[in-house]
Amino acid sequence: MSTVVIDGKALAADVKSRIAVRIAEKNHKPHLAVILVGDDEASLVYDRSKQKAAKAVGMECDIFHLEEKTSENGLLALIEHLNQDENIHGILVQLPLPAQINPEKIIGAILPQKDVDGFNPYNAGLLQSGSDKAVVAATPKGILHILHSVYPSLKGMHAVIIGRSNIVGRPLASLLLNHDCTVTVAHSKTANLPELCATADILVAACGCPKLVKRNWVKSGAAVIDVGINRIEGKLCGDVDFEDVCGQAGFITPVPGGVGPMTIAMLLENTYQAYLNQTEHS
Ligand code: GUN
Repeated sequence: MSTVVIDGKALAADVKSRIAVRIAEKNHKPHLAVILVGDDEASLVYDRSKQKAAKAVGMECDIFHLEEKTSENGLLALIEHLNQDENIHGILVQLPLPAQINPEKIIGAILPQKDVDGFNPYNAGLLQSGSDKAVVAATPKGILHILHSVYPSLKGMHAVIIGRSNIVGRPLASLLLNHDCTVTVAHSKTANLPELCATADILVAACGCPKLVKRNWVKSGAAVIDVGINRIEGKLCGDVDFEDVCGQAGFITPVPGGVGPMTIAMLLENTYQAYLNQTEHS
């Protein structure tokens, strides 16, 4: 079987160029606020690439870089200020946060209409209850976009998701269920994981275990989506053993160049939609 490698960069470029055209044509000014607490190198790199992508499509984007020792109340005060500022349309607090700050409290403080990450319990609840009004977290939304680029309908397909995080596994399970998949969420305590995965039409690896998924875990012709971002000896790799799985999967997303670029494109889409909702241009 020849495996099609899905070009996430090209799909993301297409999404971003459509947003850029609409912003330029209508002279819109969506404004995203990104909050980073502390000096985590990876988070700083992610946030700078989010800012670069936002500016490239014509959005405003400020990074609020706070000290590692920032208090919970200090961060809540900034969020409250940004909630009230009608020139700010999207707010994103980069995770993880330092130990003295409770992430649940922080995420819950962002106004749901400005919650472009879709992590606020209000948006997470809407998604879980099957509403199409939810702001959907960027990574699951990007994965859905990738799947739709190869399958017009996902109806009746069995999706196995490895990982139950609030950022990927759980919201993706709801999203795929809302698109008529039969969904199984697997995790570190799941029994017979390779055999379970081999029953999947869609296999999503989002567990942070480098090269975990092997050829015998994959049903012939399945779509394999790799959400992992790991480093082995300085080299980036996913949660799927790409070389081993090629030739067995029907479709596969590479790392880098698969899910990662789509996540940023979907964040911009959420920010643009938040802008439309708040300014009644829709
Ligand atoms: N940390 C890892 N992924 C994400 C994300 O999608 N959004 C935020 N805010 N933090 C993250």
